[in-house]
Amino acid sequence: MGFPVVRARRLRSSENIRRLVRENYLRVDDLVYPLFVTNGEGVRNPVESMPGVSQQSVDMVLKEAGEVVELGIPAVLLFGIPAYKDEKGSSAYDENEAVQRAIRALKEKYPELLVIPDLCMCEYTSHGHCGLLDEKGVVMNDETISVLAKIALSYAAAGADIIAPSDMMDGRVAAVREALDANGFADIPIMSYSAKYASGFYGPFRDVAESTPQFGDRRGYQMDPANSDEALKEVWLDVEEGADIVMVKPALPYLDIIRRIKDEFNLPVAAYNVSGEYAMLKAAAQNGWLDEKRVVLEALTGIKRAGADIIITYHAKDAARWLKEEQ
Ligand code: PBG
Repeated sequence: MGFPVVRARRLRSSENIRRLVRENYLRVDDLVYPLFVTNGEGVRNPVESMPGVSQQSVDMVLKEAGEVVELGIPAVLLFGIPAYKDEKGSSAYDENEAVQRAIRALKEKYPELLVIPDLCMCEYTSHGHCGLLDEKGVVMNDETISVLAKIALSYAAAGADIIAPSDMMDGRVAAVREALDANGFADIPIMSYSAKYASGFYGPFRDVAESTPQFGDRRGYQMDPANSDEALKEVWLDVEEGADIVMVKPALPYLDIIRRIKDEFNLPVAAYNVSGEYAMLKAAAQNGWLDEKRVVLEALTGIKRAGADIIITYHAKDAARWLKEEQ
């Protein structure tokens, strides 16, 4: 049976009928807002390629976190710009570094706000790679995961609510899980960047996090954008190793991956709407080429519809405001 008996437009004829049959909703509960923490006081360095995003010292991060809490956003993701970098990335586990101090300050001021440090070495190594290098400049997997476990412990000791490994080393989830469990942090969940692609869309992030590799690229550890079955393998491995939440990153060019993972695993799936995705919409909106509110809510709803339960996005504060207005 088809047209003219069936007419799809009947269910689109008014806002209230559209409300009745709407299938997916973006909610403030789904959002995670990323913050970039640096050292010093009163520091606020805006990032040109990401309008509205800045590197900030802990005091300024606390102020912005106040807005996040006020808007009802449940969680923040923290990245650090350390005071020093070396080949071994040792500032990553320095308890007096920006991220560790930010975690302590945030948990003291906003105990309910979930604080999620991103766990990776690229912001802390002088060469900008996500792990320790051998003499040929290749990232050494097994040596790196012990350092990651050490960094995770320093975040846990500072009071982190969730640990989010983003390095793409093999076995990192198991290494982090084991270290947490052995040190009294068995209740801290792991949100793993499971299907993290070697993407050009991280460009603006590397400006703000000062984490561009000094030579080569990340294709030796991040995934080939052409692959999809491999994403399921990565998720399977992470789940076996104890990941509680799995992530796909970037989001918009990988909606099919989000859907496949959601269909295959009964687990919360997070999607990272990354810096380049943000920069595209911001730039077009600033030029008057796109209606910012409309396209941002549409893009985020699309990520939801694809199957994401959690969306990490630089648009989180704006989206939360717009969602509030629409109620
Ligand atoms: C760290 C990390 C990156 C991002 C999140 N964690 C950059 C990278 O892998 O180069 C990118 C986030 C974004 O682009 O918004 N490894």
